[in-house]
Amino acid sequence: MSSTLITNIGQLVTNDPEFGIKSGAALVYTDGKISWIGDKSKAPAADERIDADGGSVIPGFVDSHTHSIFAGDRLNDFLARMAGTKYASGGINQTVSATRAASDELLRKHLGNIITEFTDHGITTFEIKSGYGLDIETEARLLKIAQEFTDETTFLGAHVVPNEYSENRSAYIDLVKGPMLDAAAPFAKWIDVFCDTGAFTPDEAREILLAGKEKGLRGRLHGNQLGDTGGIELAVDLSLASVDHCTYATDSQLETLAHSSVVATLLPGAEFSTRSSYPDARRYFDRGVNVAIATDCNPGSAYISSMPFVIAIAVRDMFFTPEQALVASTLGGAQALQRSDVGHLGIGARADIVLLNAPSFEYLAYRPGSQLIKQVLVANP
Ligand code: NIG
Ligand code: FE
Repeated sequence: MSSTLITNIGQLVTNDPEFGIKSGAALVYTDGKISWIGDKSKAPAADERIDADGGSVIPGFVDSHTHSIFAGDRLNDFLARMAGTKYASGGINQTVSATRAASDELLRKHLGNIITEFTDHGITTFEIKSGYGLDIETEARLLKIAQEFTDETTFLGAHVVPNEYSENRSAYIDLVKGPMLDAAAPFAKWIDVFCDTGAFTPDEAREILLAGKEKGLRGRLHGNQLGDTGGIELAVDLSLASVDHCTYATDSQLETLAHSSVVATLLPGAEFSTRSSYPDARRYFDRGVNVAIATDCNPGSAYISSMPFVIAIAVRDMFFTPEQALVASTLGGAQALQRSDVGHLGIGARADIVLLNAPSFEYLAYRPGSQLIKQVLVANP
């Protein structure tokens, strides 16, 4: 048994109903799990000691939505958008070409670099989607490599219809539901579909998600990013874990979400990098919708690996309170991944812990772009 005491914590954010936000606190973790929380003056002895120096300590961020395995970039797309072109799904095929041509070694190295960025920004749990292979071999290859880095792997063969099937979309859907799913399923926990303008319809998405469910994959969905395209209703109908983007959501769709267990995962970085209008998170919180935020890290719509930056946008432009944004990026992400062991620092939780160079978590929104992540502790699984 090995124990570590973190003491002199100015502000401890636990996301745990018993402990809430504590000042003057200390915490002990033993063999990778939180084992004691209390006043720093009452802290028990431990094998090792970390001094938080009066700073804030928070749970590691849980990034429930990333497209972080790919090759190449889409700087051209970004520059075009900054010059006034609207974001559309068409650019995905550019990344598909680069990804198909990349070796396993290159993909692994590139993904490893992005994950180092995630960790440096305090992200301790992350999901990774496929979706830039769109053929049997490459989709399986992407998921196999992704699984070397995380348990939260998602098959997104239904990202868009690849160019070679542009005249035959029903054949592509059959491929996704059949042999591509068979090849991907051993390496995936989740299945996702981009249900939106220029991608897949709700009926197509339903077929694909149900085929995935038969193979034991749990469902999540891209919905309502580019318009009111029926994704939210489908996610609720199929009781998916999460419906992601939700940029366009009517009041009645939010009511439906609020009465379901589906998490609405908002992706502030996508609106930021595509210069699109932000949804107003007050509409979601006022109705009691479960909300997560995630980076959406991908080369097309949000080449972003910093959760603190996403928190800052959520607060500044989407009207989250700092506390709502912190909870959405930790506990919210955990709920979107149906995980109870991360996203909080209650007794028994994984000791995934971030020490901040700031006296309170609000500084994450107050000081965007500053390096406030002082130390990141990731429990050995
Ligand atoms: O979540 N919306 C679909 N997929 C990504 C964008 C992918 C891309 O443009 O490469 C997203 O924003
Ligand atoms: Fe996405």
